[in-house]
Amino acid sequence: MENKKRNPAIASEFKFENAQNTSGKSYARILTGDRPTGPLHLGHFCGSLKNRVALQNIYDTFILIADVQALTTNFDHPELLRQNIFNVALDYLAVGIVPEKSTIIIQSMINELAELTIFFSMFISINALKHNPTIKTEAKERGYKELNYGFLGYPVSQTADIAIFKADLVPVGLDQLPHIELSRKIVRRFNELYGGALIEPEALLSEFPKLIGLDGNLKMSKSYGNAIFLSDDFDTIKSKIKTALTDKSRIHPSDPGHPDICTIFSYHKTFSESNLTKNIEHDCTGGLIGCVQCKNNLYESIKNILIPMNEKRQYYKERTSEVWDILFAGTNKAKKIASETLREVKENMKINY
Ligand code: TRP
Repeated sequence: MENKKRNPAIASEFKFENAQNTSGKSYARILTGDRPTGPLHLGHFCGSLKNRVALQNIYDTFILIADVQALTTNFDHPELLRQNIFNVALDYLAVGIVPEKSTIIIQSMINELAELTIFFSMFISINALKHNPTIKTEAKERGYKELNYGFLGYPVSQTADIAIFKADLVPVGLDQLPHIELSRKIVRRFNELYGGALIEPEALLSEFPKLIGLDGNLKMSKSYGNAIFLSDDFDTIKSKIKTALTDKSRIHPSDPGHPDICTIFSYHKTFSESNLTKNIEHDCTGGLIGCVQCKNNLYESIKNILIPMNEKRQYYKERTSEVWDILFAGTNKAKKIASETLREVKENMKINY
């Protein structure tokens, strides 16, 4: 039974369950993306990348490297985008996103997106954007007193990203939900106005607990300087873990610890085998293990996760042109879809001169 109170922007679990082809893959298309503003870290891995690796087996997966959206906050350094795009692609390939299952797209190469964004911008009010809670939070975090047109409007451009590829589902965390609601509103309005048949996207909510930062901050983030990057070498990871905040009340290894308030223990819960985690909890609480040993154990757990990723990373690092070819192939495939959608859009709007 449909839950009446369910948020209409969130996909119901059973909606796509019968829409599978013979290989067990759903026909539904998902679209996700990242701004290429720097290397991806363990927070991204737990929060979205790991999920995408699983989703690509079930859905027709499109992943957008949103370099235009990156310009909303990094417009003063466009020359960094090329390297950042490459590094994000390396991160994707390292974690196990495979080009046979996922179409990776460079946003700025799909110029149709700019056109669709302009069309959408005609009937979305500035107030709707100004009151978007995610925009508000982000602007506050970044200390913006005034909002640039492009920044304020990025949920509109994101709507174009989703609509142009006819994505059914967008895997997101709760903070992105206002954007999906807005996207649905825009698409609905477009369809009403012009009798079009754009797809109202739904959020595929994947709310994983946020990975806290090495400094105990609630969020691991590049800008807070508290992140372990997927591309960090093992020595760097080891020394980063060494500096991580633990239970401050513990001076000697024999002092009873409080795993529930310890950053390192929260990582153990995420990255270590459950037996090790249980032992650590027991030994820390009983003052039987010191923080140095506990951190070494964590380092080993994280290292084990990263070893197979580093092998893939190394393979592609030595084959730069293969990585770009993957990006260009994905982008070309996506471009065909985008130009077809834009053709339909203009036809619907009767501006297909
Ligand atoms: N907003 C996303 C981010 O900040 C990137 C993004 C751009 C995106 N377009 C999208 C995500 C479309 C989902 C769907 O990382």
